Amino acid sequence: MRTEAKVILVTGATSGIGKATAELLASKGCRVFGTSRDPVGKSGRGFELLQLDVTSDSSVAACVDAVAERTGGRIDVLHNNAGTGIIGAAEEVTPEEGMKLFQINFFGVMRMTNAVLPLMRARKAGTVINMSSSGGVAALPFAALYCATKFALEGYTEALRHELRPLNIAAVVVAPGPVSTPAGDTAMRAERHIPEYADRRKKADALSVRGIRGGMDPRRVAETILKVVKDDWPSPRYPVGLQSRATNLAHGLLPPSTFEAAVRWGAGLG
Ligand SMILES: NC(=O)c1ccc[n+]([C@@H]2O[C@H](COP(=O)([O-])OP(=O)(O)OC[C@H]3O[C@@H](n4cnc5c(N)ncnc54)[C@H](OP(=O)(O)O)[C@@H]3O)[C@@H](O)[C@H]2O)c1
Repeated sequence: MRTEAKVILVTGATSGIGKATAELLASKGCRVFGTSRDPVGKSGRGFELLQLDVTSDSSVAACVDAVAERTGGRIDVLHNNAGTGIIGAAEEVTPEEGMKLFQINFFGVMRMTNAVLPLMRARKAGTVINMSSSGGVAALPFAALYCATKFALEGYTEALRHELRPLNIAAVVVAPGPVSTPAGDTAMRAERHIPEYADRRKKADALSVRGIRGGMDPRRVAETILKVVKDDWPSPRYPVGLQSRATNLAHGLLPPSTFEAAVRWGAGLG
């Protein structure tokens, strides 16, 4: 399928994966709309940048209306990319901090999807791409809440896919391993500190920042999104990078206790 005429909405397109994806798709002739919570003074290369805070119903409605107004009600692909993390032991993260993260990573996706689906249903076509992570299959210590949002997103997308299939709308998960973006540095940190976790939390925090800084080029994820956009009927799940593919494989093949040991080893916990 040709990509020229496709209208694509990418949430969180000022940085990292979203920016790389919006730029790549625009360079392939798609009509791309990217978003930022604060687009004033910022611009996208080859795409228009709209205001969007995925935690706000009114902001989501205004953003989707703005795209629909410009395209005559057409959005072919929604790339739910905006997201962040929180580092801290599960016990250190307060429910309020956890809810804040879920509002972005999970309910933000749900809000956007619910706002865009009426346009896709009207045209009996569309693709919803949700950004998960290798952490959506293997939960990492000191990233419990982040992984919980991605596990939730995986389940949500799987069910959504079944529901949308008869309507000719595909729901897809893209799940990279570490990608070189500012996300490790800018992730939230749990404010509450419990001494018993301090050493391991610091180690996990440093590992996460280092792992993400040294991760794959975001353009590799953008290439995968391009593949999804071009596919007539994309697959349910696209792991990106060796780490994510190996996680998938190991999760499918290894007994749970062996898989757990492999994750502990990978997380530097011996
Ligand atoms: N980096 C990795 O290693 C990695 C691995 C697997 C999966 N992922 C996932 O990939 C996605 C993108 O990650 P990234 O590493 O590219 O992150 P990033 O470089 O930190 O970019 C995050 C983007 O999200 C936007 N954003 C943040 N909060 C928002 C909100 N409330 N409403 C709307 N937009 C918001 C930001 O835009 P403004 O600040 O301009 O609003 C920014 O453009 C996330 O879902 C992440 O979980 C990342």
